[in-house]
Amino acid sequence: MKLWGGRFTKETNQLVHKFNASISYDKKFYKQDIEGSIAHVTMLAKQGILTEEEENLIIEGLNHIADDIENGILEIDNESEDIHSFVEAQLIARIGEAGKKLHTGRSRNDQVALDMKLYVRNEINEINQLLKDLLNTLHVMMKENIKTFLPGFTHLQKAQPVTLAHHLGAYFEMFKRDRSRLFDIYKRMNQCPLGSGALAGTTYPLDRTYTATLLEFDGPTYNSMDSVSDRDYLIELLSALSIIMMHLSRFCEEIILWNSNEYQFIELDDAYSTGSSIMPQKKNPDIAELVRGKTGRVYGALVSLLTTLKGLPLAYNKDMQEDKELSFDAIDTVKGCLLLFTGMIASMKINKAMMEASAKKGFTNATDVADYLVGKGIPFRDAHGIVGQLVLYCIDKNISLEDLHLEEFKLYSTAFDKDIYDAISLHTCVNKRNTIGAPGIEAMKKVIQWNEEYLSIS
Ligand code: ARG
Repeated sequence: MKLWGGRFTKETNQLVHKFNASISYDKKFYKQDIEGSIAHVTMLAKQGILTEEEENLIIEGLNHIADDIENGILEIDNESEDIHSFVEAQLIARIGEAGKKLHTGRSRNDQVALDMKLYVRNEINEINQLLKDLLNTLHVMMKENIKTFLPGFTHLQKAQPVTLAHHLGAYFEMFKRDRSRLFDIYKRMNQCPLGSGALAGTTYPLDRTYTATLLEFDGPTYNSMDSVSDRDYLIELLSALSIIMMHLSRFCEEIILWNSNEYQFIELDDAYSTGSSIMPQKKNPDIAELVRGKTGRVYGALVSLLTTLKGLPLAYNKDMQEDKELSFDAIDTVKGCLLLFTGMIASMKINKAMMEASAKKGFTNATDVADYLVGKGIPFRDAHGIVGQLVLYCIDKNISLEDLHLEEFKLYSTAFDKDIYDAISLHTCVNKRNTIGAPGIEAMKKVIQWNEEYLSIS
């Protein structure tokens, strides 16, 4: 059934119907559509616009439709234009005259704006939970690895030693920010557009505050034209999702490197790896690669929607229907990636010995040798120069700084003494760094404690 046949003298061209219809994807929010309709009808009755009998009939009918779809008794076919038409047609077929009153004081423009917000609110909560699961996993791994030494890199060159807990802690911060972005979006979008009509409100005495409360919004939106054409929250969401993917992608890149033959810092579990059809020896990090790869389509959704909305005049335009497939795809992609990623890192084997051996190579303690000289009264700039020469000497002999004999140290500066060895051991290098946010055990324990508090309250 069409909602708008009256003014037309011809049937819609079949291709036009297909091109125009959104039912193949907006059926995803049938529950929200029905939930919104129930709130609308409850309000219409409270305002005396519908009788109590009509209200009961409609609500019962809508609940049955929801149950029947849920239980697979009623299939949402692609005949209707969109989910709103489908539900209304079903209702009229089931309860007759009263069903025709459902759409009183409402337009599909405010209806779809509402449905999408209800849907997105729910998805935000689910993504938030997936992020929390990931944070919990990271938290456990951090606690287990405050003494697991690892080279820290800049420019992908070994820089200074850190610990695995510290490295994972960097991602903990990123995903924590991702969650707070989702909280922000939820808060900002949580105004109810229902009752805005097509664009100019309605002549019926609707109680918009009441429907907003019924649907757990903070209140109604304040401008009906904005209400039906606002898609800012979707852009904000796609942007937040893009950032989540960027974080996951960076992490995946490291996991791929760490899992490689050259690094061997970790080994992905067999259940999270795949093989090659030709090379029997292969065990590939496909999941990490796919998460990295899927980042592109989430960015794509953001740019697509921004481009779609650019230059649209007020108020509703059909272009806006394009928001759905993009958003649904991005949301589902991020949810899938978060779930898989968490399982992947929780099950991977950590090769502590390889990490530590690697942290010892590459002169990661060179800064600490310079700091040692500073402790002996040499200005930092001079110390930097001395250690640079020592490093050159070591490269030539293919040894590490701690392999040098004291006499060799002394050739470069008489300030060196036998306490140099303890001062530049891996253990000292890491654990002397205890400013807030640094990798030293004391500093790390504090952060882990703060993270624990964060996880228990939000
Ligand atoms: N399927 C439409 C959308 O997603 C619903 C709103 C239709 N409104 C209209 N006036 N044609 O945007």
